[in-house]
Amino acid sequence: MDELRLNKVFAGFLSAGLLIMAGVQIAHVLVPDQQLAENSYVIEVPEATDVADAAPQDTGPEPILALLASADVAAGEKLAKKCTACHVFEAGGANKVGPALWSIVNKAKASADGFAYSAALAEFGGTWDYQSLNAFLAKPKAYISGTKMNFAGLKKPEDRANMVAWLRTMADSQAPLPTAEDIAAESGS
Ligand code: HEC
Repeated sequence: MDELRLNKVFAGFLSAGLLIMAGVQIAHVLVPDQQLAENSYVIEVPEATDVADAAPQDTGPEPILALLASADVAAGEKLAKKCTACHVFEAGGANKVGPALWSIVNKAKASADGFAYSAALAEFGGTWDYQSLNAFLAKPKAYISGTKMNFAGLKKPEDRANMVAWLRTMADSQAPLPTAEDIAAESGS
């Protein structure tokens, strides 16, 4: 093969290469790499805060200690009509569907003589202090899961405060009202 021919072959390869490169560039121009401003499929994911808002509140009932001193005892007595289908509050009262509740404030939980408590309440422990009464009366089954007290609960903190203030009067000796420190500790928790 003479030199001229060899050159032609090289030139051929060269121009073929150039053509391919040019082709690629042209392809890029014709079909640009597209960056979409938005995803073509938008998947709605609610923001974390929305989910938290929708979730049931498990922060516990609103505190009532600060309300007790000025609570309306007579209103509490009226509210007790919601309980008397199952409870007797008077001194020496008998157990009914629920246990007798005379002197219940600060009494040991599940300690009414002769009442067949659920295992859940029998094993719960502690006394019926103001805070546990508040939690139980707000939503019995949330505070003691498995309790057999079938009562939805008193939603309003004022109602619970009035109720507990009246329960406090239904006793041999009235439990002391919460101190300023008790109130501060409750709202801080
Ligand atoms: C439908 C019947 C029913 C109603 C209404 C009801 N209770 Fe009860 N209550 C019960 C039963 C049953 C128990 C025992 C629960 C257990 O053993 O788990 C109980 C337990 C209690 C206890 C715990 C007593 C203890 O000895 O440990 C308190 C306090 C109480 N009830 C207060 C109230 C108050 C206040 C109301 C009204 C706002 C009320 N209950 C409404 C049936 C009822």
